[in-house]
Amino acid sequence: MGLNSCHNFQDFRALAKKRLPAPIFHYIDGAADDELTYRRNTEAYADVDLVPNVLAGVENVDMSVEVMGQKLDMPIYCAPTALQRLFHHEGERAVARAATKYGTMFGVSSLATVTVEEIEKLAPGPKMFQFYFHKDRGLNDALMERARAANFNVMALTVDTITGGNRERDLRTGFTSPPKLTPSSVFSFATHPMWAWNFYTKEKFDMPHLSGHVSAGTNLAVSVGNYFSTMLDQSMNWKDAEELCAKWDGQFALKGVMSVEDAKRAVDIGCTGIMVSNHGGRQLDGSRSPFDQLAEIVDAVGDKIDVICEGGIQRGTHVLKALSVGAKACSGGRLYLYALAAAGQAGVERALGNLRTEIERDMKLMGITSLDQLSRDNIRFNTPRF
Ligand code: GLV
Repeated sequence: MGLNSCHNFQDFRALAKKRLPAPIFHYIDGAADDELTYRRNTEAYADVDLVPNVLAGVENVDMSVEVMGQKLDMPIYCAPTALQRLFHHEGERAVARAATKYGTMFGVSSLATVTVEEIEKLAPGPKMFQFYFHKDRGLNDALMERARAANFNVMALTVDTITGGNRERDLRTGFTSPPKLTPSSVFSFATHPMWAWNFYTKEKFDMPHLSGHVSAGTNLAVSVGNYFSTMLDQSMNWKDAEELCAKWDGQFALKGVMSVEDAKRAVDIGCTGIMVSNHGGRQLDGSRSPFDQLAEIVDAVGDKIDVICEGGIQRGTHVLKALSVGAKACSGGRLYLYALAAAGQAGVERALGNLRTEIERDMKLMGITSLDQLSRDNIRFNTPRF
C-alpha cells in the first residue's frame, strides 16, 4: 500500500504504522489511560445525523471561513503538534508548505523541531504559535518574542497540560524524545531502516525554541509527559493567562477549554478564540468529547469569541456537523500527522486534499453553497440535546 491508496484517515494511519518504528507510531496514535476519550472524540460524530436539502443549485461552493481574523480557504486547519521531525525528516517544513498550498492555517508548537524563523520564510499564510507556560520566565518571553518577530498571526496558550497525561503506550514502548537506544527500540529501528537512515543521517534532532534554555531542548531523552510535569508551571492561573493575552496584544486563544465557565472567562480576559479540545484524549481520560461539549459552549460565548472544535475529526461530514452546531472552524493533529509520517509533504497535501474534496462534495450533497448556511436545523441528535 502506498500514498496513492490513501483515501481516508484510516489509510494514512495504516501506512504510518508501517513506516514508523513502533514507539514513535504509538506516541502519535496513543492517548491517556484506557483511551475512552480518544475513541469518543470521533464516535461522538456518529450520534448526530445530517439532514440535507436538495434542488439548491450547488454548482459553485465556497468553503472559506474567517477565524481569529484569518481568512482560511477551508474550514479545517492543522493543529500545532510537537516533535514533527521525529515522524518524518521534513517535519514542520512539510506541514507548513502543505497548509500554505491549501490556504489554511497550521500551528507550530513550542516543542517544534524547526524554528519559527525558518517557517516564516516557507509559509506566508496564516500561522499559529502554540505556547507552553514554563517555569522559566526567560524562556516564556523568548518564545513569545520569537513568534512575534516571525509574524505569527495567532498565539494559542495550551491550558490542558498542567501535568502529563498517563500515556501507557509510551510507558510500555519507552518512548522518549529523542528516542533512547534500548534493545527493543534498536530492533524497531532496524526493521524500519528508511526511517532510521533519515533520522540518523539528516539534520540532528533538536527542539530549537528550547535549546539554550532547558536541557530537554538538547539531546537529553525525556518523555513528553515528563516534560509537562517538570518544565511547565503548575501554578498557571487566570491572571497569568490574562497577562500573556495582554502581552501578545493580538489574536490570542486558549487551547483546551472544555467548560462553559472557562469559556466565559476566556472572553473576560480578552481572548479572541478558544479551542474546545481535550488534547486528542491524551490528557484527562474520561473527559467529554469536544463535539459533545460544543453546543453549550457555543450557546454561552459563540457570539463573543471564535469557537474552534478540535479533535476526533476524520471526515468532511464531521467538519460540517461541528460547523452546524456553531463552531467557526475545526482543527486536528492526527489527521495530518499520520500523513506526514506516511509520506512527508506529499502525504500532508494528500490528507488536506482528501478533506477538501470531501467537504466540497458533502456541502453539495447537503444543498449548501457556503458554510454560513449550516445551522442546527440541518442536524438531529439521536439523543436530543437542544
Ligand atoms: C504533545 O502535546 C503531546 O500531546 O504529546
